[in-house]
Amino acid sequence: MKVLSIVGARPQFIKAAVVSRQMRRAGVEELLVHSGQHYDANMSDVFFRELELPQPSYYLGIGSGRHGEQTGRILAGVEDVLLKEDPDIVVIYGDTNTTLAGALAPVKLHIPVAHVEAGLRSYNRQMPEEINRIVADHCSNLLFCPTETAVQNLKREGFQNIGPAGHSDAGNESWFPEQQRQTPLVVNVGDVMLDLAREVKVQLDREGQGKTQILGRYGLRPQEYVLTTIHRASNTDESENLRSILAALRQIARSGLKVLFPIHPRTRKALAEADLSALLDTRGIITSDPVSYVEMIALESEARLLLTDSGGVQKEAYFFKVPCVVAREETEWTELVEIGWNRLAGARTEAILAATEAILREDFAHKPRPDYYGTGHAAARIVNVLQWFVER
Ligand code: UD1
Ligand code: UDP
Repeated sequence: MKVLSIVGARPQFIKAAVVSRQMRRAGVEELLVHSGQHYDANMSDVFFRELELPQPSYYLGIGSGRHGEQTGRILAGVEDVLLKEDPDIVVIYGDTNTTLAGALAPVKLHIPVAHVEAGLRSYNRQMPEEINRIVADHCSNLLFCPTETAVQNLKREGFQNIGPAGHSDAGNESWFPEQQRQTPLVVNVGDVMLDLAREVKVQLDREGQGKTQILGRYGLRPQEYVLTTIHRASNTDESENLRSILAALRQIARSGLKVLFPIHPRTRKALAEADLSALLDTRGIITSDPVSYVEMIALESEARLLLTDSGGVQKEAYFFKVPCVVAREETEWTELVEIGWNRLAGARTEAILAATEAILREDFAHKPRPDYYGTGHAAARIVNVLQWFVER
């Protein structure tokens, strides 16, 4: 079996690293295509090195651009690769423009598509990612959901062929009824991000000193800081939202907790354009370039709380039992808001501060933490189903 995996943005390198390693273990031939959507060393190369992702067989070098322009260039680039390589199946990840192009190119050539992180919905069509997810899901033959919420979302959109959740009988996916093989298959395999986050955290805990050193680089001590990441278009393109989030960060820093803010390049640019960078020049706020994955896991797991609009970071907070303020009006990871580990605050200063204060007052030590994201074996299940699908 020949798999062509398509990645291009930071969270995709992280997700693909786990699945790619599992493919190598299973002896599956994988070709990796990197669209070049993210290209800074700290948004791309660092993850290849740190997570031992194989070098891409194809680097399309697309770079930044308007949505249509960027997606179109990736689409054409991926199509060329598909025509040359003729893979058995294409694997795409998440909800970026690379995902969208990576879904469209193969489906038009009648090459099957597998979508990792299928079924997520914010129900906000202003969000570019929402359009990307919907299209990607409806182009896919295999829809690998990370949660039951995602499965239910897809059921509402008419998907009916649902495999069992949490199936762990490696190498035997015979549960799938013969007569339904032609229709798209939805399976809750769990979240590949849990597989990796758990593994890296165990390594960091084993090494002991590593975590202290990472925190030390930023002058931080466990439980005495808030870690924040902001990059959503709604929070960066609208300078009032960005200003309002920064005001909340300043207030938090004044109240005694330090704030560490690794700044996404999109946000760095927005700060400069709106002339807001000086607002971060505040005692208690530490800014940095984007950090590596291992650093991020260390920093997340020792934080007092996380404040983010990132999809991945919202879940990593939960993996590490750290409460999280979500600087968005809605989220795809609704189960975490329902259970009270995460709080939606949007971009308004007062709402962020109210959510932060509520979290700081609450005792999370005995709060229930259901296994919404599986058991840490999502990648193994994905590779099993891929093999079954291609070799059937
Ligand atoms: C993209 C995804 C988003 C995902 C995020 C992960 C889309 C529509 N958005 O958002 O879903 O959450 O990646 O981080 O696909 N830039 C650089 N260097 C880089 C990359 C980007 O300077 O290596 C700057 C450029 O000015 C660029 C801007 O960041 O225009 C935005 O990059 P882009 O890839 O379009 O979207 P992200 O905001 O990164
Ligand atoms: N991340 C990282 N370094 C950073 C910020 C984030 O390694 O400086 C990791 C984070 O731990 C998570 C992933 O990047 O695994 C999330 O990606 P991002 O926030 O860019 O995108 P999203 O999940 O919102 O699509």
